[in-house]
Parts: sequence; C-alpha cells; structure tokens
Amino acid sequence: MIVLKTPDEIEMMAQAAKIVAEAHHVLKKEVKPGITTSFLDKIAEDFIRGHGGIPAFKGYRNYPKTLCVAVNDEVVHGIPSNRVLKEGDIIGLDLGAIVQGFYGDGAVTVPVGPVPDQVATLMRVTEEAMMKGIEKGVVGNRLSDISHAVQCHVEAHGFSVVRDFVGHGIGRQLHEEPQVPNYGRPGQGPRLQVGMVLAIEPMVNLGGYHVRVLDDQWTAVTQDGSLSAHFEHTIAIQPSGPPRILTVL
Ligand code: MF3
Ligand code: CO
Repeated sequence: MIVLKTPDEIEMMAQAAKIVAEAHHVLKKEVKPGITTSFLDKIAEDFIRGHGGIPAFKGYRNYPKTLCVAVNDEVVHGIPSNRVLKEGDIIGLDLGAIVQGFYGDGAVTVPVGPVPDQVATLMRVTEEAMMKGIEKGVVGNRLSDISHAVQCHVEAHGFSVVRDFVGHGIGRQLHEEPQVPNYGRPGQGPRLQVGMVLAIEPMVNLGGYHVRVLDDQWTAVTQDGSLSAHFEHTIAIQPSGPPRILTVL
C-alpha cells in the first residue's frame, strides 16, 4: 500500500529533508584529503541533532552510524571509519533525518580534490539522471516512467545502473512502498498521485552493474572494482507540474 501524505505532513517531511540538504552543504566543505570518514559522520550527527532532527539511519536495522559513505568502488552503505580520504577519491554521503516522526533522505557524491574527467562525468551524469527521473514525477505518469528516464540517460553515456538497490516511498518510515527501480520499461507500475513522496536515488557504475556486499554486511561495492556514484533527493508529487524537491536548502 502506498501511503499518501497530506500537505501538513509534507511540510514536516520538508523540514526533515531541509536538515539533510543543509548537512550536505556543511559536509561538502569538510571533504578534503587527510580527513577520516568518521570525522564526517560526527559532523553529520552533530548537525542533525543541533537542528532538531534525529539521525534516521543510526539504529535502523542495527546500522551503527548517522552517515552512509561510499568511497570509489563502494556503491552505498559504507560505514564511517578511520579510513583517510586521499586526493582523487570520490565519496558518496548518504544521510537521513527524522523530524516529528517524518523522514527525509538524500545523497550526494563529491570529489576529494581534482579527479579525472571521466570520473567527473560519472558524477555529473548520475546527478543528471536523477533529475531526468524527477522530471517524470508528474501526476498521471506511471512510476516506471521515472525509472526509464534514469536508465536512458545513464546508458546513453555508457555507464550502468545498479539493479540490486532501488529508490523508495518515504514518510513515517524510511522505506515505504513503492520501490523505485532506476531501470525498466516506461508505462508500468502505479500512476503517480498527489501526496506521494518518493526518494529517487540512482546508483551508477563506470563498469558493469553487478554489486556485492562485503563481510561487514553493509558496504556494497562494484563487483568489477569500477567507480560508482550515487545521488538522492526526496520529492513530493504535486497537483500539476513537476514535483517539489524537499531535500533543498
Ligand atoms: N538512503 C539509503 C536508503 O534509502 C540509506 C539507508 S542506510 C541504512 O536505503 F543504514 F539506514 F540502512
Ligand atoms: Co534512500
């Protein structure tokens, strides 16, 4: 069942999502060679709590931290640690916050200093693909119109879309129905309706789409060791026109 949200509920979700976007803004400025991923986690946790939110991931299925990081060939769900970032790395920063019982969820991928053109292109195309998907979040379209738009943009650039993780409905729970795959034929799945709130989150690999999960039971990496990028926005379907992106400053 897809739980539709009232305008008041969407305002609460917007507050949670805004904290996520603001935390990303702060974190991006801290990403540089020599820092650890735990340092970023501490900043994220302090920021969310300092702005009246609760870190959404900490304790979710026993996940131990506030932030999910993904360095280089890590796709999603890397656990912050004493790993030190070095110039030329890329890092995904995935964050959730809860305000008044409602969740916001967002992710960005950023370079650590200068990166090769192809790597910058991977990140750019992943963010563009997310936005192409979001543009399809219009009343009357079907869910897989989003999926298809994401996949087309990614594959037009020769990259691949991860299949094993998907976007999701979001509300009083982090993961609600429907699942939002980043691939598929258009015109399938439920029709989009006002009050649907979705997390759109493509994960895009430079090489093949296959991933595996490390022995820590969390960190997903590309099977072929190629680099991966991840972006995520929480969006609310509007009565007409394009969706409202909630994960904004
Ligand atoms: N943005 C991710 C998701 O929607 C984060 C979940 S990580 C977890 O699945 F730690 F909370 F599981
Ligand atoms: Co998510």
